[in-house]
Amino acid sequence: METHVLPFNRHTIGNAAQLIIAGQPVAIPTETVYGLAADATNPKAVARIYEAKGRPSFNPLIVHVPDLTAAERIGVFSDEARALAQAHWPGPLTLVVPLREDSGIASIVTAGLPTVGIRVPAHPAMQAVLAAVEGPLAAPSANASGSISPTRAEHVFKTLGGKISLIIDGGPTERGIESTIIAATGGPLRLLRPGPIHIEAEADSSAEIEAPGQMASHYAPSKPLRLNATHAAPEEFMVGFGGVPGDDSLSPSGDLVEAAARLFDLLHSADASPKERIAVAAVPNDGLGAAINDRLRRAAA
Ligand code: TXA
Ligand code: MG
Repeated sequence: METHVLPFNRHTIGNAAQLIIAGQPVAIPTETVYGLAADATNPKAVARIYEAKGRPSFNPLIVHVPDLTAAERIGVFSDEARALAQAHWPGPLTLVVPLREDSGIASIVTAGLPTVGIRVPAHPAMQAVLAAVEGPLAAPSANASGSISPTRAEHVFKTLGGKISLIIDGGPTERGIESTIIAATGGPLRLLRPGPIHIEAEADSSAEIEAPGQMASHYAPSKPLRLNATHAAPEEFMVGFGGVPGDDSLSPSGDLVEAAARLFDLLHSADASPKERIAVAAVPNDGLGAAINDRLRRAAA
């Protein structure tokens, strides 16, 4: 894939919006770091973020919206959360709040959790894309998994060149580190990730820095789950893949983007089914398969 690096202007924003609406991720500057943004309501588009980053596990991603009104259509804000949003948005603060049932956010964005991280970015490029797309954008930092967060378009190109089609060059980012993350999900505020904005909150031991993707809060089904299954036992809800059929399938055609996009929805349906156990067909471990298998192993543990 050819990667275009284009300056931030009206024409580039139009290109970016078209790509995002078509389900492709685009690298966009924010005031913290460059983000790799995709349509947060389209699970395949979000799976392509993971594919491009080569991320070996699924983390809940931050949803970017233009303002507090848009944020309140996705999450449930307590008075305390709303006051923080009013004080610091637009800006480098992410609020983790309960997810609304009618949010329209794909389950791969929240990694199946009943909460969602939301932020209103201050950067005019990200704001312009949000306005053009007219929908929420999921965006982790725009770097390959395991490499440092990008604060310039060149940094993005270094690790994602050839893997995405557009990088919007808005020059160096102002803050240079990722947003402060505060959980406002009931009880006292919790600091999940320190960042540019200082807010009084309890330190949280499950914060991402020590163990990305290993947060205790990660969604896991409540039923026993068996991996690499070829057939279902009578009491098992079978999750198929490729040539292995099931009660439902991650992807009948064996497409890993589709499988990643459907993973959390399928785990939820399997959990909600009358069957006592869950069996899952083998998924190859290459590309996105590594992230899918990481999640399945945790769900089976
Ligand atoms: O500054 C930033 O926040 C950048 C720019 C691009 O906006 N984005 C960013 O995203 O750093 P990311 O995906 O690297 O960080 C997401 C982190 C997760 O690892 C997790 O710690 C936290 O946000 N998070 C998101 N949703 C959460 C949730 N529902 N519960 C707990 N933590 C959540
Ligand atoms: Mg990151």
